[in-house]
Amino acid sequence: MNINIDKIRQFSNRLLMQVDVPQDEAEIITEVLLEADLREIHSHGFLRLPIYVERIQKGLITNKVNLNAEQENPVLALLDGNYGAGQVVAHKAMEISIEKAEESGIGLVAVKNSNHFGITAYYSLMAAKQDKIGIVISNVAPLMPAIGGAEKVIGNNPISIAAPAGEGDPIVLDMALSNTAFGKILFAKEKNQPIPEGWGVDAKGVPTTNPDDVINGGFLSPVGGPKGFGLALMAEILTGVLSGGHFSKMIPSMYDVKQKQSISHFMLTIDIKQLIPLEIYYSSVKQLVSYIRDSKKAEGTDRIYLPGEIEFLKEKRNKESGVPMEEKTFSSLNELARTLGVDELTV
Ligand SMILES: NC(=O)c1ccc[n+]([C@@H]2O[C@H](COP(=O)([O-])OP(=O)(O)OC[C@H]3O[C@@H](n4cnc5c(N)ncnc54)[C@H](O)[C@@H]3O)[C@@H](O)[C@H]2O)c1
Repeated sequence: MNINIDKIRQFSNRLLMQVDVPQDEAEIITEVLLEADLREIHSHGFLRLPIYVERIQKGLITNKVNLNAEQENPVLALLDGNYGAGQVVAHKAMEISIEKAEESGIGLVAVKNSNHFGITAYYSLMAAKQDKIGIVISNVAPLMPAIGGAEKVIGNNPISIAAPAGEGDPIVLDMALSNTAFGKILFAKEKNQPIPEGWGVDAKGVPTTNPDDVINGGFLSPVGGPKGFGLALMAEILTGVLSGGHFSKMIPSMYDVKQKQSISHFMLTIDIKQLIPLEIYYSSVKQLVSYIRDSKKAEGTDRIYLPGEIEFLKEKRNKESGVPMEEKTFSSLNELARTLGVDELTV
């Protein structure tokens, strides 16, 4: 089904405000979730609203963000998010990173004690929309073993780099560092299909192509084997370690509703014009894009895409047709609305 954008916006804000989230903060959380569903990254869209609300109700996410700068100079800041909603904390942190870059050429903001912030591209794109390059990383609860390990020690820590591209949409890489999402393993099981090599290992840490082995006590594998593991580890250092926050096994799952999560973010903005004239940057990006887009295509390929391009195409289409939503997500949102006594979402 497809939901009218204004209806889902108002609905999500109503739910959040019903659990005492201030309107301006509810609006930021809603926009990040909406952007995920419009880009068809449904795993990080309104599907997550019930768990956020539950965590807010239990005081595991504070319902009013109180950001505290522990260190600050013209090019960097260390913020304590004080367990505020990840979207609001990250949005504010990125605004500070962009302001510093505008003033000083570069702006690095390290954040500790935040929460799950949804799609990483939302924040890197904030910089790209202002002629700047944005680099954003977050840590998450551990999901993957080390190479050769058989215990979860590292998150599939997402990384996004967004680069403005002049007249076209920005080029935006937005990826988790696991080879695949857990949902895709469940999907292969449902279809009785093997999973490709490199997607996961069994409970003993042995690589497998049987989805059951991963589902029953096994683990996701890092993208690109040891290289992805190395990137995930470095992401952990740039986030949890560099901010003086939590990392690896210190972070409980978001679905453990007894414990606060303490998530860390790393936001870096580069003001291009303070390095080279913007016209030169944009003309080089145009040339680079044409080298890639116009390159010889593999047999069976009609079109070459840039990172983020497929998601932008989906977003444009869905802005016309409404937010695509699974029946199951729609029902769970309305179940939550009934529990909280707010008006239900309609199609
Ligand atoms: N907040 C968190 O804790 C958390 C954790 C993990 C993931 N995430 C989010 O989950 C989302 C999904 O991550 P993912 O790794 O599954 O993404 P993905 O595998 O769908 O895409 C990864 C990247 O590859 C690009 N891409 C895909 N197909 C392409 C093609 N044919 N040509 C060129 N580029 C192509 C995409 O544009 C994207 O930039 C991201 O938004 C990420 O930020 C968030």
